[in-house]
Amino acid sequence: MMAHTKFHLGYFTKFGATSWPGDGKEFGSQWADGSYHKELAKMLEAAKFDFILFEDSVIVGDRYGGSMELDLKNATLSPKLDPIPLLPVMAQDTSHIGLIATASTTFYPPYLLARLLSTVDSLTGGRAGWNMVTSSEKNAAMNFGMDKLLPPTERYDMADEFVELTKKLWDSWEEGALVANTDTGVYVDHTKVHTINFEGKHFRSRGPLNTLRSPQGYPVLCQAGASERGREFSSKNAEVVLGMMTGGVKGMKAYREDIRNRAEKQGRNPDDIKVVFLTPVNILPEGEEPHEMTEAEKQASFEHNIVMASSSLDVDFSQYDLDVPVPQDIVAGGHTSALDHMKKLGREEGKSIRDLFSAGQGASGMDFSGTPQQVAEKMMAVMDEVGGDGFLIEGSGYNRQLPELVNGVIPALQKAGAVRTEYKGTTLREILREF
Ligand SMILES: Cc1cc2nc3c(=O)[nH]c(=O)nc-3n(C[C@H](O)[C@H](O)[C@H](O)COP(=O)(O)O)c2cc1C
Repeated sequence: MMAHTKFHLGYFTKFGATSWPGDGKEFGSQWADGSYHKELAKMLEAAKFDFILFEDSVIVGDRYGGSMELDLKNATLSPKLDPIPLLPVMAQDTSHIGLIATASTTFYPPYLLARLLSTVDSLTGGRAGWNMVTSSEKNAAMNFGMDKLLPPTERYDMADEFVELTKKLWDSWEEGALVANTDTGVYVDHTKVHTINFEGKHFRSRGPLNTLRSPQGYPVLCQAGASERGREFSSKNAEVVLGMMTGGVKGMKAYREDIRNRAEKQGRNPDDIKVVFLTPVNILPEGEEPHEMTEAEKQASFEHNIVMASSSLDVDFSQYDLDVPVPQDIVAGGHTSALDHMKKLGREEGKSIRDLFSAGQGASGMDFSGTPQQVAEKMMAVMDEVGGDGFLIEGSGYNRQLPELVNGVIPALQKAGAVRTEYKGTTLREILREF
């Protein structure tokens, strides 16, 4: 049997109503008290996933047509609770799986976030991660008293400084500062705790942090840079890089190589970075026919996608004709790389906005559908070609497939030696560096 590239697995979700619209009785309809995600964490840990990652944003979406109706109706962007306090709740019933939350460098004061994530790393026994985002919604800026966001490159300049500062704060307590020596009566060795006196262009902080040094020292840093500036940021700072499958296997391979090359130029070992690709799966239990979406389901999916994109790209798509090739004069306040890609599909393939936001129109051309065995084989074939480092399986909206995922796809991957069957490390950083 051919040896497969061994790869990492993350699960992508949100602290929100991930199974809406369910039938109300379905696993997943209760979520706000954390009980659903505790069960989720246990299931994914049994399947030996590296981590669960929670996306986040701080808005009720009304960018599409200036109304909150479609967002709230479909539970697209809200309601969403803050995932950071959820991490220690999930840690209580698990022992190994990594727990990653998103927080924005544009809105948090660095000291506050450094202290919070240090606390969470302690509470989770060294299993915390931080998905570093710069945020892209004007509404979010307005929630924090700003009129608008700075341009993306400036937000990344700020983010670079933010990370530099938080790392200094996390290191303001040396390893071994806590001595708790009853003979000498010294709890903390004051010579191992330092002020940092950070003076940047955007931030200043005296330090030290007033927490203990956490088990990992600092959380595992994750990021999804797609633009030139974003890639520069992630290859400098991130340990887990979240990639898109845009451009299929060729695009994935090029993206991973680009991140690794940039990291090397910044003096880092590229093997310390795991590039994982966001992947929807469509698993069909053996012997079952594919589910044909009803018109209502198709419409809900379209609304969901267009509300999401209006918000993240900062474009009111309701102003444009949805049924002609993507207009080339759309201007985005947010992720311009994604909009550029949409325009290209409009230009070169005549795709309309409706085409691009309709279900089943994945821009990547990648297809991870089939029986558990078929899905596992497709995943392995792609990873063998790309060369690593793993998949970030899209959970939100797909949670109904969890039983097939953990009982079908994962065992098939394990049997073929493509994913782990046991954890060796205990902290998230150790687990990521097992291979
Ligand atoms: C898998 C994945 C998860 C992301 N999660 C979030 C998130 O939770 N919150 C957010 O504001 N942005 C999120 N983003 C957006 C990225 O932070 C980033 O802005 C985007 O990938 C575009 O890259 P660029 O900023 O370099 O243009 C995510 C992107 C990807 C691919």
